[in-house]
Amino acid sequence: MEKVSLRHVTRDDWRFILSLRNQNSVRTTCHDTSKINYSDHTLYMESLEKNSNAYHWIVTFDKMDVGYIKIIDLEFGSSIKDGYQGMGIGTKAYSLVFKEAKKLGLSKLTASVKIDRLTPLKFEEKTGWKKIGLDYKNNALYGYKLERIL
Ligand SMILES: CC(C)(COP(=O)(O)OP(=O)(O)OC[C@H]1O[C@@H](n2cnc3c(N)ncnc32)[C@H](O)[C@@H]1OP(=O)(O)O)[C@@H](O)C(=O)NCCC(=O)NCCS
Repeated sequence: MEKVSLRHVTRDDWRFILSLRNQNSVRTTCHDTSKINYSDHTLYMESLEKNSNAYHWIVTFDKMDVGYIKIIDLEFGSSIKDGYQGMGIGTKAYSLVFKEAKKLGLSKLTASVKIDRLTPLKFEEKTGWKKIGLDYKNNALYGYKLERIL
């Protein structure tokens, strides 16, 4: 398999990160499913620059940018570009990020996933996440809270 790697985010990556965020496959997994515009995205990225508990990486596959993974105040989020999902890139990138997070001194990560997502929860379970709770919205099950011990 081609090499999956991580590199640190620079300002030049902000448009790419926004394009991932606005992909239908990613947007629909977010709590806010609306399309984000560049100026709101810029404000958000600037806030991450000032947050000492925010870490993020671009995922590369054979030197191409294909994904984005962030840990903000221990909350993990990930997105892989359409056309590159389901190829094993996420699995490999998660293991690289877990190693980096451990090096940063983190011992536990959290995540929340919506139940009506295309990617099966099996994916998170295979990468070591454990279900620790349920999220409800308007009295209906909406998602799972997950934890990953590093
Ligand atoms: C979730 C995500 C990061 C996983 O990355 P990925 O590179 O696609 O994952 P992998 O290729 O390593 O796939 C892992 C497993 O999930 C399955 N899978 C991944 N995406 C899938 C999809 N869209 N539909 C069905 N199965 C999928 C794969 O078949 C694979 O199963 P296997 O190991 O039993 O073969 C990526 O699909 C994505 O960006 N999804 C949209 C956003 C999202 O759900 N983010 C997660 C946090 S909320």
